[in-house]
Amino acid sequence: MNSHTESPFMMSWLTSLELEARTLLEELDTHPKARRLFDGSIDKNSYVHYLIQTYHYARWTTPLMAEAGRRMKRLGMHPRLGNLLLQKSDEERGHERWLLADLKNLGWSAERVERQMPSPAVTAYVAWNRFTSRSGRPEAFLGTAYVLEYLSVHRASQSVERMLAANTIPNIRKAVTFLKAHGTEDEKHVAELTALLSPLVEREEQAALLLSARTTRVLYLGLFTEETYKNAAHLS
Ligand SMILES: [Fe+2]
Ligand SMILES: [Fe+2]
Repeated sequence: MNSHTESPFMMSWLTSLELEARTLLEELDTHPKARRLFDGSIDKNSYVHYLIQTYHYARWTTPLMAEAGRRMKRLGMHPRLGNLLLQKSDEERGHERWLLADLKNLGWSAERVERQMPSPAVTAYVAWNRFTSRSGRPEAFLGTAYVLEYLSVHRASQSVERMLAANTIPNIRKAVTFLKAHGTEDEKHVAELTALLSPLVEREEQAALLLSARTTRVLYLGLFTEETYKNAAHLS
């Protein structure tokens, strides 16, 4: 590919990737439940629901990303992307424990959290990323990561500030570890990811990332559509 055609094409694929993430922000901002996480008016049951469902997907991030990275290396695919997947897998290690700690401070033991079913959206998200990591295009997980990290950069710190200011959830100060850490960490992660993805010119590689970005956008909304913990306050 020559430089005459390369530049606009690269621009358009990265713009498309960012568009998926920005569209998710817009969709969440107008979603009746998600917007309440961002504006701090969310109640305890809904916040617990969000943390539990996030736990059900975050627990798979480290093993599946590692699998994707190792598979890329085994297949001799794009080594920088394979290494990035392994690096990100390490970065994500233990984040599910932050969710369990936050939930514990809201009266939910780890055992009780484990007994809650993942929602259909979370089940589909895990299954999709397991598929791409194990037998699809393994670099696709970076499209998933891009959307989730972009979301953290733009909404995680804001959510924490506003929930603390609203102070409607008892003990909320001790239940925002996961969001707090991601708001600060993911800024550099998105910058690093964007820098590494900029030079990608292979259309199939781009398409794989874009498809996972879109899948994540669609499924992430499903995190907020089911309320299955109506009696959380009484059970805790
Ligand atoms: Fe994380
Ligand atoms: Fe990150």
